[in-house]
Amino acid sequence: MIKAMDAVADLVTPGADDAAHGGSRRVVRVRVLRQDVAGGESYFERFEVPYEPNMNVISVLQKVASQARSQDGRRVAPVAWDCSCLEEVCGSCTMLINGRTRMACSALVDSLVSTDGDEIELRPMSKFPVVRDLVVDRRRVFRGLEKVKAWVPVEGSYDLGPGPRISPEDQEDAYPLTECMSCGCCLEACPQYTKVETVRRDDESEADFEKRRKAAFDSGFVGAHAISQAMLFNSHPTGRMIADERMEALTAKGGIQMCGNAQNCVAVCPKHIPLTRSIARAGRAATVWAIKKLFDR
Ligand code: SF4
Ligand code: SF4
Ligand code: FES
Repeated sequence: MIKAMDAVADLVTPGADDAAHGGSRRVVRVRVLRQDVAGGESYFERFEVPYEPNMNVISVLQKVASQARSQDGRRVAPVAWDCSCLEEVCGSCTMLINGRTRMACSALVDSLVSTDGDEIELRPMSKFPVVRDLVVDRRRVFRGLEKVKAWVPVEGSYDLGPGPRISPEDQEDAYPLTECMSCGCCLEACPQYTKVETVRRDDESEADFEKRRKAAFDSGFVGAHAISQAMLFNSHPTGRMIADERMEALTAKGGIQMCGNAQNCVAVCPKHIPLTRSIARAGRAATVWAIKKLFDR
């Protein structure tokens, strides 16, 4: 196995300028799949930025943006990407790093180099429409949550008295599911979750386009994150008030029946959420729901 420091030496090489002057500036090389506009052609561009200890992919991208020059010295538009919290909480910085779906803020350069070799490749997620460069339109992730009503239905701020008690065992069971940050890694890795891209027609109103887009989202697979959140809120004493509505959504077109149980989702979730457990629970609940509906006729 390559030792981390040897591999860093491979990747982090003297830059062209410094080599010419006998210097030893160390650089990080990165190859970014770029796209200037939504629906446009994509192309790779290479960059080289000064190495610093403990860099993550976001800090590499910040340097790429500040120098706005490609590896061959051309002035280019800064690369666009999404991020916010920088501590694996907001879920906004998901991208394909060396072919794996993961969070850019927790992807450390030294560790990437030690496992993957001397150039870091960045691509936008493939299951969502590209807005620009590494920025994708993740509206469908949130539509999935909306579809299964992933919330506790309490309206207003009246004093309703203390909420129902939840046992420590149930809290422990539910807590891992609450860590979902809607990053979409589970969706990117899922073979059943295929890209849905809708483009507004010239003669279409904003409202009509939104309706058509929602229908397109709803006809595709809802995804492991939404299934898991539906199970979380169906297990909550107040949340279960609308459990039937969630089951209706989970058994409609694009629901749990589309899951092929490949288990890619659980393997890539950065929060290690027990997604296959949620999916198994949802499957059992769907069977009970279908029988109940049969007898309710
Ligand atoms: S188990 Fe289901 S949700 Fe998870 S990756 Fe497989 S098909 Fe997708
Ligand atoms: S379940 Fe995991 S991978 Fe999927 S959106 Fe939530 S945190 Fe991300
Ligand atoms: S920036 Fe928030 S998860 Fe990476």
